[in-house]
Amino acid sequence: MCGIVGYIGTKEAIPIILNGLRRLEYRGYDSAGIAYLNGDNTLKVFKKKGKVNELVKHLKNIPTNIHIAIGHTRWATHGAPNDINAHPQLSASGKITVIHNGIIENYSIIKEALIKQGYNFVSETDTEVIANLIEEIQSRDGVILSEAVRLALNEVIGAYAIVVMSSDFPDELIAARKSSPLVIGIGENEFFLASDATPIVEHTKNVVYLNDEEIVSVKNDGTFLIKTIENKIKTPFIEELQMELEMLERGGYDYFMLKEIYEQPTTVKDSMRGRLNLEKGTISLGGIKDYEHKLMNAPRIILLACGTSWHAALIGEYLFEDLARIPVEVDYASEFRYRNPIIKEEDVVIAISQSGETLDTMAAIELAKSKGATVLGICNVVGSTISRITDAGCYTHAGPEIGVASTKAFTAQVTILTLMALLLARKKGTITDTHYHQILIELDKIPAKIEAVLKISKQIEKIAAEFKDARNFLYLGRAYNFPIALEGALKLKEISYIHAEGYPAAEMKHGPIALIDEEMPVVVIATNQSAYEKITNNIMEVKARRGKIIAIVAEGNGKIKELADYAIEIPETEEILSPLLSIIPLQILAYHIALMRGCNVDQPRNLAKSVTVE
Ligand code: F6R
Repeated sequence: MCGIVGYIGTKEAIPIILNGLRRLEYRGYDSAGIAYLNGDNTLKVFKKKGKVNELVKHLKNIPTNIHIAIGHTRWATHGAPNDINAHPQLSASGKITVIHNGIIENYSIIKEALIKQGYNFVSETDTEVIANLIEEIQSRDGVILSEAVRLALNEVIGAYAIVVMSSDFPDELIAARKSSPLVIGIGENEFFLASDATPIVEHTKNVVYLNDEEIVSVKNDGTFLIKTIENKIKTPFIEELQMELEMLERGGYDYFMLKEIYEQPTTVKDSMRGRLNLEKGTISLGGIKDYEHKLMNAPRIILLACGTSWHAALIGEYLFEDLARIPVEVDYASEFRYRNPIIKEEDVVIAISQSGETLDTMAAIELAKSKGATVLGICNVVGSTISRITDAGCYTHAGPEIGVASTKAFTAQVTILTLMALLLARKKGTITDTHYHQILIELDKIPAKIEAVLKISKQIEKIAAEFKDARNFLYLGRAYNFPIALEGALKLKEISYIHAEGYPAAEMKHGPIALIDEEMPVVVIATNQSAYEKITNNIMEVKARRGKIIAIVAEGNGKIKELADYAIEIPETEEILSPLLSIIPLQILAYHIALMRGCNVDQPRNLAKSVTVE
């Protein structure tokens, strides 16, 4: 969602901002803008609907000798995506400009009050309301900019990450956050402000993650001050970024999504590194060590997430119940938070999030914490809000995921859930020694087996060519591979815009079968040993109605291969690990279909990488 970037220091600010905006493109946006202070302290604002390149064309010449500037990529919430609603937004006097990520819930009440005081509004945004509110407070109370921002934020209800620049205060930028992320990069007499670390990493590794309801003033004399909105001074905690610039580049691939699909042998290995010790037959998850006992004795584990991470949670449900015999409930974070759930202190909640910034997941965590439950996190982005508001957790270590469609983060999440379930099963004695060691040996082979699946990409590309014009797709799977049917369908619909539904295979008879005719491709994940005969029957039912079967089968499983119109053979593995392999061909299929349909694979329409609004 919206991306924020700001710079104050001695270097040329505009290239830093434009480059930063490009780094933030992956978050999803529909307009972009930039504001800077000229040498004579006049504020200049340029904004444009569309991509950052449109903004650059609109700028014509890149201004030089600029040392303070802010930039924004907007994902429309209040008001259509157009030039006027794009950020930065200016105050009525033109002296204050604001960029904002989030939603101000009481903006219309504040707007009405400001209109009564003579303020005119040009945009439909809640952000312009913040700019004018700051201006009003500053002139009413005669306070400095940072104080006016602080007082203004005491009046607003909602979520925000903002950066404020004023021509009356040319030596500083003010930033603040509540529920939307904001990172401060600290260089030599220079500061960077951004929604995440991606625009910062090429300039400095020293960062401070701003906490909720904190305001920072960064100045061009190299000083900065963090306060809470209650006016308490905070001591900053400076961290070192564990991210390299190469991780943010396409590295020879045409698209980030393709790169990330191909990284999976490595990222799955990275998720297990230092955690799975095959020789000793042990699993250790340092991040949750102190909570093992609590988990083992939990009457219930509640898994909370959204989207792809929710699909990983569904696999977690199978794993924890099957291996560790702990009852599990899986919920969409957005539903959980609004359904008055029963949460007990002994419950352990595990929140799963790639970005660690999903607003609904954050709110669900806060709710669970307020009821006394222990909350653990499984996050990919180091230092993200969810990783900080949970009691403990495990990072997935998949590295930055730039493609909007989640791929490597998903397999990393499933890997962590597998390790957790195995660890608990071993400690609880709910798994036999033989089975435990068999799974460990197989888990260690998964990266190589993913590598083998990637080698059949050409075959999958041919299948994609056959079905690229389909209008609907059905995905069917059972047990561990039911969530894979959901995830395969989600991958296809989000990047190719083809309508796709995932279903438990047995549910087909209860409705979706009505859709099947010769136009309907049906992807069947048929690797499960346990439900092989049942899946075979489902395939027969589809074939009887002339649906086209694309089957994902385990090598050597002849029967389904023969029945299917197209069979994609993947290596055999333990059933509980099969999702880690069966999702790979579905990611590749979605990727090729989207590409053949001319879609923007990395930045699908309307989607945001990190969903920081409800
Ligand atoms: C789909 C996708 C989304 C995210 C969802 C949750 O490919 O990426 O469905 O999984 O928005 O995001 P995180 O995991 O960052 O909480």
